[in-house]
Amino acid sequence: PRQIWITRHGESLDDAAGRIGGDSDLSENGRRYAKALARFVDHQRQQWEAYQRQKDLLKHFPPRAGDITPPNPSYIPQEGPRNFCVWSSMMQRSVQTAEYFNEDDYDVKQMRMLDEIHSGKMEGMTYKEIQEQYPEEYAHRKKDKLFYRYPGPGGESYLDIINRSRTVIVEVERTTDHVLLVGHRSVARVLLAYFRGLKRDEVADLDVPMGVLYMLEPKPYGVEFKAYRYNP
Ligand code: F6P
Repeated sequence: PRQIWITRHGESLDDAAGRIGGDSDLSENGRRYAKALARFVDHQRQQWEAYQRQKDLLKHFPPRAGDITPPNPSYIPQEGPRNFCVWSSMMQRSVQTAEYFNEDDYDVKQMRMLDEIHSGKMEGMTYKEIQEQYPEEYAHRKKDKLFYRYPGPGGESYLDIINRSRTVIVEVERTTDHVLLVGHRSVARVLLAYFRGLKRDEVADLDVPMGVLYMLEPKPYGVEFKAYRYNP
């Protein structure tokens, strides 16, 4: 079975300053996470390939009379090699988080649909500044986060994110490759909620911390779900 991996980008300079939105670079911390991420996923990929090679060996050297055979050889799934896709958003912090994946081994690309929620005229502000300068907007969002759309040009709501994530989901479901999605808090919430079959009402407040790498593996009886945490 193929695996779907989801993570947020590493810490950016805006994150370190508590500012939302923007398009800042990774901080030193963020770079360290990006390196650790590529190292970890690469290890997983190599293990996967070793497993594939073993299965191929069994195919080419089927057990002979007198050999000890696996309990049920027909159970061994006959799968070809898989590619590994790494899709990030178009934002610098996300592109830079995917930068340490070797393009010979990974199909790396960027998608605008994975970009962070646009906070309209509140881009670049801290939550405290929003609360002080736009107390009504702040309260409105708190009360109705799923439907609340940030005012000002480009401003989005979680419903907007759900809508634009559909294209990503279609692409993920269409490919049989392993896929790592490097996103942001809002899109990671939406994608995780979708692949885990959560309710729409749970999306906007789902706990999706930085430095956590999620793995989802569709199985006949449901989805296997694992979360790996980075130790800074
Ligand atoms: O603070 C990081 C961030 O990714 C912001 O850029 C974004 O506006 C926010 O998180 C989304 O989280 P929430 O919807 O909970 O404000």
